[in-house]
Amino acid sequence: MARRFFIETFGCQMNALDSEKIAGNLRHSGMEPAADAAQADVIILNTCSVREKAVQKVYARLGEIKRHKARGENVVVGVVGCMAQLEAGRVLDKAPFVDILAGPQKGRVIAELVEQAARTRAPAIDLRMDEDPEPLETAHVLRTSRWRAGITISEGCSRRCAFCVVPMTRGVERCREGASIIQEVAELVSQGYLEVVLLGQAVSSYRDPACRDVTFARLLRRLAEIDGLKRIRFASPHPGDFTDELLEVMVSCPKVCNHIHLPVQSGSAKVLRAMRRGYTIQRYLEIIRKIQEAPRPMAITTDIIVGFPGETAADFEDTLRLLDEVQYDSVFSFKYSPRPGTAALSLKDEVPEAEKGARLKVLQERQKLIQFNKNAAYLGQLMEVLVDEEARTRFALAGRASNNKVVNFDGPLALMGRLVPVQITGFSANSLKGVRLEDRPEGS
Ligand code: 5AD
Repeated sequence: MARRFFIETFGCQMNALDSEKIAGNLRHSGMEPAADAAQADVIILNTCSVREKAVQKVYARLGEIKRHKARGENVVVGVVGCMAQLEAGRVLDKAPFVDILAGPQKGRVIAELVEQAARTRAPAIDLRMDEDPEPLETAHVLRTSRWRAGITISEGCSRRCAFCVVPMTRGVERCREGASIIQEVAELVSQGYLEVVLLGQAVSSYRDPACRDVTFARLLRRLAEIDGLKRIRFASPHPGDFTDELLEVMVSCPKVCNHIHLPVQSGSAKVLRAMRRGYTIQRYLEIIRKIQEAPRPMAITTDIIVGFPGETAADFEDTLRLLDEVQYDSVFSFKYSPRPGTAALSLKDEVPEAEKGARLKVLQERQKLIQFNKNAAYLGQLMEVLVDEEARTRFALAGRASNNKVVNFDGPLALMGRLVPVQITGFSANSLKGVRLEDRPEGS
């Protein structure tokens, strides 16, 4: 009987796509997906190491996974992705039963590693990185959605932000050839996909290796020409190379979603410098002003780290002021977490954990109010929603508008994966609710 596999994903959208590539590789080698870990012969944890909390989650999960090994000696457990790359030794110390360790770009060899581990009964390890880079094309991807698809356009990052572990786990930046990206998107569209999400650590620095003139903005413009493709998203641009050309393409191509996730990390000039982000707060605000003045309205979201070493109460106030000034549509905020191999490790003036927690809470409360007030402006608007899932609210369905707002509404499950016009009738800080256009009572 075919081996059955189960993959658990921790972390970002890129990890979710990597898991789909691993699943594609395993299925291509003859294995079948299992409904859960208890029914799987191969259990893969695809991990994140961006913050220590993400790492601790994986160790906790490994503690639970251990009992599956007791089911029989044919059960194979793999730890793959960023954490495997960063701390394979610690993984084996803490969980000596682990059979496979492989870095984030090894999706295409996981089936071989499973065979090797099963044959040798010793850990199968592949942590080679820059000396042996994997191609960015993947022949087999087992996708979870039939209407939205992630696409790798670049891997790794050549910036050196002081807090960030990614260059250590995913290596220096490499871009994929434009022709290959366009071909994959066209194929997906012919299979019925409506939305693609272009993924890379810093997509805005994309350059086609086959033709250096092709910037990220030009790639977007070419993708927008593909007939049948409805939506293009991307994550994430970096403020250091967010160009006027990119904004211009977003304004003039309606298929490119009107949402920009532009991670700022801090509102303090001093902290930004210490973080080595490569832009000043003035430059960042200049980009924001251009986006806000553009003829097409854009939702703007960001990432913020509180409690970076040396962040004083006054620096934190600068971040709160930035929130007031920009009026973000949503903010992902995190307590600073020291990471191995990063420049920030040598910085003094650590902010105590309790203070980080207090700042995070203040920031999140401030932002919640901003979002609540912003979302009120959508009342009465008509939005096109790509229906994604059964809603977590009392409504039946949920999906996202082009600007990435979550919209809840009632309708039949047959609408999943379809673009549906919805009129907004209510809101909270985190989502909108509405009525499907054809369900509106007469006269409204
Ligand atoms: N500590 C806390 N947050 C971090 N991020 C990246 N590295 C760290 C760290 N060491 C956050 C940044 C980034 C997001 C993906 O994770 O805000 O944009």
